[in-house]
Amino acid sequence: MKVYITLCLSVCVYLCEALAESDPDAILEDKDVLVLTKSNFEWALKQHNQLLVHFYAPLSGQSLGSILEFREAAGALKEAESDVRLGGVNVKKEKDLAASLNVTTIPSLRLYLSGNKNNPVHCPDLKSSAAILTWLKRRKGPSADIISNLTQLVKFTEEEDLVVLGLFKDLEEDIAKVFYETAADIADLPFGVTGNDEIFSKYEISGDTVLLIRKSKPDKQFEMGSSTVKTDLVQFIRLYEMELVTEYNGETASKILNSVVLNHFLLFINKTEEGFEEIYLAFKTTAEKLRGKVLFVMIDVSEPRNGRVMEYFRVRSEEVPQIRMVNLSNHVQYQLPSDRFDTQTLLEFCLKYLDGKAKPKLQSESIPENWDTQPVKELVGMNFEIVAFNHNKNVIVLFYAPWSSESRALFPLWEELAEHFRENEDVVVAKIDVTANDVNIHLREKYPSIKLFPAVYSERVSGLLQLTVYVALHNISDLILIGNPYLRQPRYCVIVFGLKKVMLLLYCLGVQSMSTL
Ligand SMILES: *[C@@H]1O[C@H](CO)[C@@H](O)[C@H](O)[C@H]1NC(C)=O
Ligand SMILES: *[C@@H]1O[C@H](CO)[C@@H](O)[C@H](O)[C@H]1NC(C)=O
Ligand SMILES: *[C@@H]1O[C@H](CO)[C@@H](O)[C@H](O)[C@H]1NC(C)=O
Ligand SMILES: *[C@@H]1O[C@H](CO)[C@@H](O)[C@H](O)[C@H]1NC(C)=O
Ligand SMILES: *[C@@H]1O[C@H](CO)[C@@H](O)[C@H](O)[C@H]1NC(C)=O
Repeated sequence: MKVYITLCLSVCVYLCEALAESDPDAILEDKDVLVLTKSNFEWALKQHNQLLVHFYAPLSGQSLGSILEFREAAGALKEAESDVRLGGVNVKKEKDLAASLNVTTIPSLRLYLSGNKNNPVHCPDLKSSAAILTWLKRRKGPSADIISNLTQLVKFTEEEDLVVLGLFKDLEEDIAKVFYETAADIADLPFGVTGNDEIFSKYEISGDTVLLIRKSKPDKQFEMGSSTVKTDLVQFIRLYEMELVTEYNGETASKILNSVVLNHFLLFINKTEEGFEEIYLAFKTTAEKLRGKVLFVMIDVSEPRNGRVMEYFRVRSEEVPQIRMVNLSNHVQYQLPSDRFDTQTLLEFCLKYLDGKAKPKLQSESIPENWDTQPVKELVGMNFEIVAFNHNKNVIVLFYAPWSSESRALFPLWEELAEHFRENEDVVVAKIDVTANDVNIHLREKYPSIKLFPAVYSERVSGLLQLTVYVALHNISDLILIGNPYLRQPRYCVIVFGLKKVMLLLYCLGVQSMSTL
């Protein structure tokens, strides 16, 4: 899902590194970031008492996103005349250096102190430049703002939608230290700490507690005990920092990717379309039952900025609402096997997935054994292009979803059509389950959808490759032609007739002459 990068960025990185190579002794800078190499690393450590080093691989999407943030942080630190210098190591190029420093995670950040290369501070995953700056600031302490009265509290809770407040009887006790350590690691949220009695009574709290305050209202609380360790508290905060349903946008993207919950349930929907409220409500109700197990994310397809994410998941705005489950550990996707979006359907699907019993959405199913022996050819992702884009054949394909009754209603028609063309070598009648196979073409309509890929013979030039004829079906007896310039040319046309005995015939490039109709 890390698609927020541009290729030009990688070009810059390469150019700067090419420059660095020509003069290995000098430390070149790339937008305020020192370009570190095997030959200058030790020297850089000596020069800079606090050196924050970014280890990255230039062509991985993840690294590119972090390079951009890292540069921004470097600029801000330079401007603030900070003692901390920022440097970058391209681990693909500096393999020896990375190996000698025992770098295993990429991208990653380490803070080298007092020229010591053996004991760097390993930074938590800092996804934004603001988080990098906050982390550096909190390292020096105090990691949480001290809130000493109600006026200060109000100001603090208004800082961001979600803030974390630690309430401790004694701000110096060990239990409070766990809170400070947590605050130092979670650099993307504001942390405050208080021992003020008025604040304890305001929230009706008596013991040591961590409170999540959302939009100035207490939301969730965590009671600190003597056995509480940092990971417990991090887990609690990461779990509840998200709302039941998080809408995907520039601000929430990094929180979504950083979430401790690795099962993401994505709803692609047009917020301005009728029926949105009902589906959203069912989605949210399901979310309540699965908090901590599944993260619920909504992606509004009417927001142009979400185009990249949709591209990544290969969701087209014509195909929404659509629901996907993604396992972020292995990036396997699962598609909701239904076009009903009620709570029961959603919950059943999630539970089935969590149970390991859902069927993954594949690039392609395997090619069925007898795919070409029956009149209707069975296509899958793997054989789709070779069949559909065969220049010598007119190929008509039904794109269907197995669960959709409208799709299934077309199967008999398809058999009939295929039977009609059985003896005709030039015409192929085929169908493909688009929910299990990714085909890289634009489907204008929802399922079922029909496309004709005409033979183009000598006229075939690269531009014509995409020549297809669209036919939209509202119901079996009513076939409507959608305007496509080629339809108006007599050589490429689709003729529809016979309401009772449904029949669709093609007249293409002499394959079928007018008179036989
Ligand atoms: C890398 O790991 C090896 C083996 O664990 C260790 O001897 C060496 O000191 C480490 N190097 C650094 C720079 O941490
Ligand atoms: C609250 O505390 C701040 C900082 O200690 C102080 O400046 C401010 O005057 C206090 N306000 C009240 C109402 O006590
Ligand atoms: C979303 O729905 C609105 C209202 O029906 C429509 O005008 C708009 O084109 C849709 N947006 C997309 C991307 O489909
Ligand atoms: C997600 O992927 C990981 C890594 O392959 C796997 O261990 C885990 O069981 C998967 N989760 C589900 C719910 O399928
Ligand atoms: C097919 O759809 C058209 C328009 O959508 C409608 O007028 C017609 O009555 C429908 N026919 C049947 C048999 O449902």
